[in-house]
Amino acid sequence: MLINHAFFSQHWQRKPLLLRQAVRLPENSPDKKLLFSLAGDENIETRLVLEHGERPWEVHYGPFSSTELDQLPGSRWTILFQDMDKHLQEVAELLAQFEGMPRWRIDDIMISYAADRGSVGPHTDEYDVFLIQAAGKRRWQINEDTLADRSLVPGLDMKILQHFESEQEWLLEPGDVLYLPPGVAHLGVAEGECITWSVGFRAPSAGELFAHWADEKLRNVSNIRYSDPDLQLQAHRGEIQPQAIDRLRTMLLSALEQETADFAEWFGRFITEPKENLQPFPREPSGSSAGIRGLFTGGARLCRHPASDILYTQENGHLYLFCGGHSYDLPQRHLPLAILLSGQDCWSADDLDEWLDDEPAARMLCDLYEQGFIQID
Ligand code: SIN
Ligand code: CO
Repeated sequence: MLINHAFFSQHWQRKPLLLRQAVRLPENSPDKKLLFSLAGDENIETRLVLEHGERPWEVHYGPFSSTELDQLPGSRWTILFQDMDKHLQEVAELLAQFEGMPRWRIDDIMISYAADRGSVGPHTDEYDVFLIQAAGKRRWQINEDTLADRSLVPGLDMKILQHFESEQEWLLEPGDVLYLPPGVAHLGVAEGECITWSVGFRAPSAGELFAHWADEKLRNVSNIRYSDPDLQLQAHRGEIQPQAIDRLRTMLLSALEQETADFAEWFGRFITEPKENLQPFPREPSGSSAGIRGLFTGGARLCRHPASDILYTQENGHLYLFCGGHSYDLPQRHLPLAILLSGQDCWSADDLDEWLDDEPAARMLCDLYEQGFIQID
């Protein structure tokens, strides 16, 4: 296990941590050959970072053909593969090492393949990251000084620090892990070709939350309009009187307050919405939940779609289950079902037995299946 009580109290969001030989990656971990073939897949978000392209730290977006890959220089470039936990089961399995971490905080596992001396330059990330050395060696240098000059080199495709002075460095070998909290400057340079997995965390910004939330709620509040039946003659026509400003502020804040009453329901949908390229395909609706048992025929199991996290929360007496940007308002007695669905990736008929004859539960399972959020293993 990569995390425990001591990790949370001493390191999480506070201090870097180097763990030697902390993970054993599966035998079938993606190697260079597999990664190069996946670089041509248009459903996988890939970026190539060339330290010396036509400009420094040049970024190209995939997919990349094998001819393009063959023409790359012998050193100093990296290809980054986003969301590999959604694309490869053997990668997703690493997340079992993070038991005890709220799942909604985990964003993805990015895999990088670097040619010799390849790196993405000195930078900081705005979220926590576990850098796991999967193959080959990478030298990591870090700087924890939050007062250091963090200005960026202007005009580049990447956010590269103008000044980076290493305070500590380590050579990571396969199985070694480096945890970095947000804001620690780091530079990881491959020594020979290497593969690194980065478990990145989600930390929505207030701007991001506000933009999505307001976009959805705008239509509810757009017909609440300013009114002032107590208006009186005023001496200077140009003045916006303090009472008007107060009234406007109150109008806005009470609309916000009214609309945040179901904030939990909104947030669950927001945080489970899959990215465009990872959306599951819905199936034909069956119109009935009676067939749900039939999905387990022959000992089959149901599993969640790799990009459809299942989460739940409780607020104001409601129990909400979320998946794929949808919410289900469940009766309280469904709490064990919500824990079961969100706590495992697959379920047998035995796991779900008591719920399959419970009409509202069966209807929700049927909807999850029809939306493509859960599927036959
Ligand atoms: C990499 O894998 O090359 C970059 C990961 C990071 O710096 O966050
Ligand atoms: Co980074």
